[in-house]
Amino acid sequence: MKNYFSVNDIDSVSNWISEANDLKKNPGAHSELGKNKTLGLLFFNPSLRTRLSTQKAALNLGMNVMVMNFTGEGWALEFDDGTVMDQGASEHIKEAAQVISQYCDILAIRAFATLENKDDDYNEKVLKGFIKYASIPILNMESATGHPLQALTDAITINQFQAKKRPKVVLSWAPHPKALPQAVANSFAAIAQRLEVDFVVTHPKGYELQDEIVGASNIEYDQDKALKDADFVYVKNWSSYQQYGKILETDMSWRISQEKIAATNKAKVMHCLPVRRNVVIDDAVLDSESSIVIEQANNRTFAAQLVLQKLLKANC
Ligand code: CP
Repeated sequence: MKNYFSVNDIDSVSNWISEANDLKKNPGAHSELGKNKTLGLLFFNPSLRTRLSTQKAALNLGMNVMVMNFTGEGWALEFDDGTVMDQGASEHIKEAAQVISQYCDILAIRAFATLENKDDDYNEKVLKGFIKYASIPILNMESATGHPLQALTDAITINQFQAKKRPKVVLSWAPHPKALPQAVANSFAAIAQRLEVDFVVTHPKGYELQDEIVGASNIEYDQDKALKDADFVYVKNWSSYQQYGKILETDMSWRISQEKIAATNKAKVMHCLPVRRNVVIDDAVLDSESSIVIEQANNRTFAAQLVLQKLLKANC
């Protein structure tokens, strides 16, 4: 594996879950693997979990870590070839990526969708730019279209809590006051189709995810029908893909309440966090035994550690 760009870089989801579970039992088992190796973390957007869990994972492997909040601290980057750079951007990604490659052994990047230009976002202008010009492995810490570290975490978490061989897993859209990217939903939908689960996606009309991502997944526009007998409910807001980046409605009846969870098979409730309480999910759900969001966030460390281990072994 040269890069961890999407869940397609996972060769066997079940093997990776098993390896992550082993790491969780003994996080220090490979504490020499990353000795004298440096992980660079570049953030174009805010983070709590990704930033801290990826650093923790690197420290568990004995790596050095350098963090840069690019927006505000770094030079504004130009990504297009042949541009006359007489506007805002001071540095081209060609130089930036090559220079960083001399300082680091692995480069992890967070660069959200702009939600302004669908082509730029779905062509992964930032992540693919770094992959093109850097000479070191690139680790996706949430890009325009995917959050594969989160998706691996989610698969580990479902495995941890599943009480039956083939659980029903529902990805439910929920309201949010801001337009959010599709990245988390995309990666969750992609990995869910590779798990032994009955997978259903539910959202209001107009919030369909990209066809290539949902594939043959069961789409149910009636949230109540979708939630019936669910074993896991993965709650997430996303903006429209078709009317790119738009909020089409903020129907509060899609908020996850105790009444909705009562119709499930005592479902475990998942969310990648951060979550807006009483907008996306009610207090009564988040503060109940149904919620596994804290355990889910804990698994971020072991997902990141497993990916870093694989990148170190294959490339460093
Ligand atoms: N779930 C997640 O990626 O959290 P952060 O945005 O806080 O990193």
